[in-house]
Amino acid sequence: MKTISLILLLGISIFANDSAHEFAPSKECQKCHTQIYDEFYGSMHANATVDKDVIHKAVWNKQVVMTKTEQYSCGKCHTPTADNLDKMLKPGEKAMPDAANATHQEAISCAYCHRIEKIEEHKQSNTNIISKTPKEYYGAGRSSLDSPYHKIKTDENKNFKNGNICVGCHSHNVNKAGLNLCSTNVNSEMNEANCVSCHMPKVEGSFSSIIETKTHAFHGFAGAHKNSDMLSKYVNISITRNIDNFIVNIDNRSSHALLLHPARMAVLKISVSRDAKTTELEKEIFVRVIGKDGEPAMPWMADSVIKDTMIQANEKRAVKREFKLQKGDKVDVILGWFLVNPKALESLELQNEKVATEFKVFKKESFSF
Ligand code: HEC
Ligand code: HEC
Ligand code: HEC
Ligand code: HEC
Ligand code: HEC
Repeated sequence: MKTISLILLLGISIFANDSAHEFAPSKECQKCHTQIYDEFYGSMHANATVDKDVIHKAVWNKQVVMTKTEQYSCGKCHTPTADNLDKMLKPGEKAMPDAANATHQEAISCAYCHRIEKIEEHKQSNTNIISKTPKEYYGAGRSSLDSPYHKIKTDENKNFKNGNICVGCHSHNVNKAGLNLCSTNVNSEMNEANCVSCHMPKVEGSFSSIIETKTHAFHGFAGAHKNSDMLSKYVNISITRNIDNFIVNIDNRSSHALLLHPARMAVLKISVSRDAKTTELEKEIFVRVIGKDGEPAMPWMADSVIKDTMIQANEKRAVKREFKLQKGDKVDVILGWFLVNPKALESLELQNEKVATEFKVFKKESFSF
């Protein structure tokens, strides 16, 4: 009997603590936190739902068709403010994403993040424990006084200061076969940098319209979709010229792999200009392909990593090209990515979606010899 009650308890804690499941809409914050709201509104956190993110929708649709799923378990991280989140997560229930339900459309809202009290660690994925007090928000302690609209609690919650607030959703996501689909490698955190300092850097502009501050934490959440230019300083590109060849060095100074989601494909393009002629050299591809029996497979089917050439955390990757550089040559290097690996576009029916098919330039460098 003891083991059963333990399993039950663990089972329950994987889900949401639903007594806390009402959140102020993000729109309510706009009046006083205008700049933060505008940044957030365009971010992937505000757009993580099936209705707003076509890539998420494509993978979800595929799962519904292939496994006859009627439970949107993705809601745990993609629509955590849903008023029926418990149904989305409890075995045996049915709950699908609903465009007409305003609590689904809130996605990862202001009040949700700012009410994360603590994070429970679990094998499959972590769980955010939400404070039961509405209109009482945690922060990194930047305010000098309480706001007329809500209370501010900062003392006992260190997660906002040390950046751990993100790992309830971003640490890992392990599927039924035990394969980790997406990991930010939280255990190899760097000394000073953390999720928040890299992805929410301080930018100009006041954080509230009531008390002026010079800067605020960027709430557009720089990442693979948006504002990646804010992160390019964490990846250095240099060239070593040898007698018969040259090497492009990519130094990833972030605490996790260059890209994390298995749908991605990063590409390094290299060209050499000599006099009026430009020669394109072979591209280098960086991917982490998940699959089954040696073939690529969808995340819920995959049981292994079948190929991993992604640039890892703190890795310095050397890409060699057998090309003899001469004085006067110029080497142009472009590092960028496709959000969806072109090989997967058709099976996901995303071939006509710009966001999935366009090449996103992350960093460009030119080297003259
Ligand atoms: C009526 C104006 C008003 C509204 C509406 C409002 N806030 Fe605030 N908020 C403030 C003021 C004022 C401060 C404190 C500024 C200071 O002391 O410098 C503040 C501070 C904060 C902080 C700072 C915590 C820290 O680091 O110290 C957070 C987080 C916050 N608000 C979240 C929210 C959220 C989430 C919403 C919407 C659900 C919201 N606020 C709506 C006025 C408002
Ligand atoms: C444990 C939390 C968690 C759960 C559960 C989860 N996701 Fe996600 N998902 C994330 C995070 C975090 C990202 C962002 C990762 C990144 O950008 O590398 C993401 C990103 C994605 C993306 C990429 C979206 C884009 O626009 O590029 C897809 C597709 C996706 N998830 C599909 C799903 C589906 C389908 C489900 C449910 C079957 C699901 N996820 C469940 C956390 C989760
Ligand atoms: C409630 C779960 C949750 C929390 C908490 C959370 N995220 Fe996310 N995050 C997601 C999901 C889901 C996505 C993918 C959205 C999509 O593409 O549809 C995402 C996407 C992102 C992206 C990719 C953006 C892009 O443009 O591609 C970044 C960067 C990110 N999150 C950083 C953070 C940081 C930093 C924190 C902590 C301050 C954080 N997240 C907290 C769930 C969460
Ligand atoms: C994914 C989680 C997440 C979401 C969503 C989010 N915040 Fe924040 N917010 C943070 C973190 C983390 C900090 C602390 C940043 C720091 O100061 O290091 C923060 C800081 C703040 C601050 C303090 C001032 C500052 O710039 O440091 C205010 C005010 C605030 N947020 C309001 C909002 C409002 C309003 C929204 C929605 C429009 C929102 N937040 C959405 C995570 C989030
Ligand atoms: C030293 C800076 C640094 C730190 C620390 C860091 N990141 Fe990143 N992150 C990057 C860079 C650089 C990229 C790649 C460029 C991009 O996606 O725009 C990236 C990309 C991402 C992406 C998009 C990946 C994808 O495939 O879509 C997510 C999500 C993300 N980081 C979340 C996190 C979280 C959560 C943490 C904390 C556990 C974290 N990062 C810590 C620099 C950092």
